[in-house]
Amino acid sequence: MQNKTTLVTGASDGIGLECCKILAAKGSNLILVSRRQPLLDEIAESLKAQYPGINCTVIAADLAAPQAAQNLFKRVQDQGLEVDFLINNAGLLQNGFFTELDLAAQESMINVNVLALTSLTHLFANNMASRSGGHILNVASLAAWTPIPNQNVYAATKAYVLSFTQALHDELNASNSGVTVTALCPGYTATKMMDNPDQGGKLLVPSGMLQSPREVAEQGIEACLAGRPTIVTGLANRITVAVTRLFSRMALAKIAGRYYRSNMQ
Ligand SMILES: NC(=O)c1ccc[n+]([C@@H]2O[C@H](COP(=O)([O-])OP(=O)(O)OC[C@H]3O[C@@H](n4cnc5c(N)ncnc54)[C@H](OP(=O)(O)O)[C@@H]3O)[C@@H](O)[C@H]2O)c1
Repeated sequence: MQNKTTLVTGASDGIGLECCKILAAKGSNLILVSRRQPLLDEIAESLKAQYPGINCTVIAADLAAPQAAQNLFKRVQDQGLEVDFLINNAGLLQNGFFTELDLAAQESMINVNVLALTSLTHLFANNMASRSGGHILNVASLAAWTPIPNQNVYAATKAYVLSFTQALHDELNASNSGVTVTALCPGYTATKMMDNPDQGGKLLVPSGMLQSPREVAEQGIEACLAGRPTIVTGLANRITVAVTRLFSRMALAKIAGRYYRSNMQ
């Protein structure tokens, strides 16, 4: 990744921040994107101090805003930057009954998890294909494989990311574009997302079921640079995916519904 440039959305925290640290250590220049500019500035300064050979550019943006992807793409172009690796990581979660959760919050979740991810993929995949190719990592979730009552819009957004990415992987491969796209499916991961007061309820998850954001980021980046279509992180999560394929989707919804209702605060 020496002399390459990676754009990471959701770079200020959790899995996205770990992606930035891993790629900085590999010598990649970084474009850090999220809403909290002061935090991104601090992260950029600290990475540049640790890895003096890299450039870090901060672009503060709210990916739920209208035309967010188009505006971000333009800001990247206006600064003369070329992106070789795009990590569509920013994501929001809403826990609770669909009809009781705030509608605007659910619309923002769809805008970030689905719309911005799709539009950024379109803009940067075309740009990468017109140069020497590139890599795109789209962060889905284990939730992509199952309908989940009490997280139903979130799980549906992640099912979209998985389906979209797997189909696009085949298209890009068939067209010899030189661009690869990978869906990253982490299970429960120890980040702020597991305990964020802005996202409705809180799901209680035993600490033994949590992966670290570092291992999730490492596995995602490795799979993406290897050109794989999908990566489910960790053996336990891969077994979970294999088991879900034995059940009908409604049976899975019932099992998940019981679990989420009894473990949601
Ligand atoms: N944690 C888990 O258990 C888990 C499991 C499976 C999949 N995932 C997925 O992994 C990805 C990263 O999640 P995480 O656990 O690392 O979450 P996190 O620690 O809460 O971080 C979320 C990141 O997204 C950014 N973000 C949120 N809303 C944004 C917006 N409107 N515009 C721009 N940036 C925004 C946040 O930055 P600002 O606040 O600075 O904007 C932050 O950097 C998400 O797509 C999530 O769905 C997480």
